Amino acid sequence: MDLTEALALIRRVPDFPEPGVMFQDITPVLGTPSAFKAVVDAMAGTLDDVDTVVAIDARGFFFGAAVAYSLGLGVIPVRKAGKLPVVGGKASYSLEYGTAELEIPAGVIEPGQRVAVIDDVLATGGTAAAACELVELAKGEVAGITVVLEIGALDGRSRLAGRKLDTLLTV
Ligand code: PRP
Ligand code: MG
Repeated sequence: MDLTEALALIRRVPDFPEPGVMFQDITPVLGTPSAFKAVVDAMAGTLDDVDTVVAIDARGFFFGAAVAYSLGLGVIPVRKAGKLPVVGGKASYSLEYGTAELEIPAGVIEPGQRVAVIDDVLATGGTAAAACELVELAKGEVAGITVVLEIGALDGRSRLAGRKLDTLLTV
């Protein structure tokens, strides 16, 4: 399957998780072997000169782990607060109402390592920006951010100005 066909499997679900939100459902991509491979290969293809991969809790884990494996790299989970036993840093990001926190494990990024940040969707950019902040707090260097899908209208891209950002699809 080519990448365009693979990305066409993403389902738009209106009014989820609340009225007025158009949810981008990537589960058909995950569940279709040839589509999952096309998407993971394309994401891996955006990365060059990278030492390790950070994958963002939760949907970023699927893509981040697969991209890391395909490149022969390890994967580091950036998790929602309270899930990691040994926390190396914490960053807050804004939600529609209020804020949430992400954490990075201690002692798994070596200073100076070039880190790719992987997630499924870029919306407002708050999540990806917080993950980049955590990489830098851990003394890593953000080599780039790669996501499957970017929601153009929310302009998350501007929160990541000056960083390398690759998105396979913009809606
Ligand atoms: C979703 C999505 C991205 C994030 C993008 O995660 O998977 O991580 O929102 O939004 P932003 O650019 O506005 O920050 P969410 O935390 O909703 O759910 P998940 O745990 O299922 O990944
Ligand atoms: Mg997420």
